[in-house]
Amino acid sequence: MIMLLLSGCKSVNDTPLIDGEELYLERCSTCHSATPPENYTKQEWLGILESMQVHADLDKEDLEIIYRYLSSCVDQNGTN
Ligand code: HEC
Repeated sequence: MIMLLLSGCKSVNDTPLIDGEELYLERCSTCHSATPPENYTKQEWLGILESMQVHADLDKEDLEIIYRYLSSCVDQNGTN
């Protein structure tokens, strides 16, 4: 399933990213399928998360966790 799509994203530092991935899939794939992280730059993700924040009922902390997860995936793929 969607997990396969995102399986390239692993913990880069000592911070486990699994929570971010879980949260992302849980909150962001209810209305539409979860977009592969590398589809957008970090900058774009930030804007998207802010506009989806109300939809997904994210508090500030949730948003940050998901953002950290997404940006780590983007970093790894060198998309900036
Ligand atoms: C309550 C339903 C709902 C939830 C939950 C939701 N979205 Fe969306 N999302 C939408 C709708 C509706 C659109 C298309 C209309 C729009 O852009 O507002 C959309 C569009 C998008 C797009 C395309 C934006 C673009 O610029 O083309 C992305 C990416 C996205 N969502 C990411 C997310 C992420 C990340 C989350 C979790 C934080 C999330 N969505 C949660 C309803 C939702």
